[in-house]
Amino acid sequence: MASSSPARPAPLRTRPLRVGIVGLGMGSVHLEAFGSLPGVEVVALAGKETDRLNALGAMYEIPHLLTEWQDLVTLEDLDIVSIATPNALHHPITMAALAAGKHVFCEKPLALDTAQAREMVAAAIEHDRVLEVAFNHRRRADIQYAKRYLDEVGIGRIYHARASWKRRAGIPGLRSWFTSKRMAGGGALIDLGPHVLDSLLFLLGERKVAAVSAVAHGELGRAGYGAMDRSEQMASDTGAFEVEDLASALFRFDDGSSAAFEITWAGHTVDDEDISIELLGVDGGLRVFVPRYASDDTLRIYRDVAGRPVDIAPEVHVPGGEHPIVIAEFLDHVRSGQWEHHRGEFALHRTEVLDACYRSAAEGREIRLES
Ligand SMILES: NC(=O)c1ccc[n+]([C@@H]2O[C@H](COP(=O)([O-])OP(=O)(O)OC[C@H]3O[C@@H](n4cnc5c(N)ncnc54)[C@H](O)[C@@H]3O)[C@@H](O)[C@H]2O)c1
Repeated sequence: MASSSPARPAPLRTRPLRVGIVGLGMGSVHLEAFGSLPGVEVVALAGKETDRLNALGAMYEIPHLLTEWQDLVTLEDLDIVSIATPNALHHPITMAALAAGKHVFCEKPLALDTAQAREMVAAAIEHDRVLEVAFNHRRRADIQYAKRYLDEVGIGRIYHARASWKRRAGIPGLRSWFTSKRMAGGGALIDLGPHVLDSLLFLLGERKVAAVSAVAHGELGRAGYGAMDRSEQMASDTGAFEVEDLASALFRFDDGSSAAFEITWAGHTVDDEDISIELLGVDGGLRVFVPRYASDDTLRIYRDVAGRPVDIAPEVHVPGGEHPIVIAEFLDHVRSGQWEHHRGEFALHRTEVLDACYRSAAEGREIRLES
């Protein structure tokens, strides 16, 4: 007699999240990150460089390969749009993707200015979708260690900070979209500033910037100095350099504390490239100093113990490649269904601060931020 076993119910399986990526530069980093994570399928990729598009498409077996972002955001059966295009496209792509019901993961900067950023956050709320920005630097192990130290041990009231990213010759894509005001929105400040500002505000527990006073200069780029790739500098003397290669600002926070903030793409000075965040507290100090993307020995804590200065050097190794961490967090937020704190609010304040810096530099006066 044939035994009849009851049919087993099919195992519960959640459908993979389907992702479309726009952009093939940083977009390839998004592709690698999404492609490495479980429960995700990259089903569409868009970019103008057709050889690279086809090569990446073949490597990752991506069904939809497109040259215009408009054809990607309207694809049905897509859950997420990941944006890694020139800055000026962040706003239109995000608005179209949210209106089409997709969640959005966007490269920094969120937007060219405050007005655009507010529209994007409002659209995320209206369409009830996640909007997050790739703030990968805050995921560095040294920044995370510093944050835990501040939360668990502390350095007393932090009354002043210094934060900077300085390069000697680091103008990316001289006379490409990076140096076009219309396409990039600005220069060094909007390019590198979001990362430094994000790490600073993260360490300061999301203290609000109340006012900024800033200056901006574009002398070196205009004079043909400072290209990251010196062959570009030699090859091209046409096209405009419309943006700043140095911006320097003083921030006043709403609790009376302050920060000096300086971002440079280029400068005739000693260092090739370094990122520094220094916090001065009443009971101690803390500095993350990253010369040339160093991965070790980047964190110091300074205290007075029994009347003597003591330098603490925690052993922290930064493995690098923080995009997969940020993208995994974004996917967790999408899957959680709890989206109310993931509508680009953090990125909005960062945009407001950088936008106020540009206005301050243009108008030659301190700008107060709306509270
Ligand atoms: N988080 C980080 O650490 C980090 C690092 C580098 C760049 N970025 C950001 O990533 C973004 C892209 O920078 P990048 O260095 O990759 O620039 P890129 O010039 O290398 O790449 C831009 C891509 O956008 C594509 N594109 C342009 N117009 C398009 C259109 N109409 N439709 C479809 N695709 C289009 C181009 O074909 C190209 O592939 C910028 O916003 C930049 O600020 C972030």
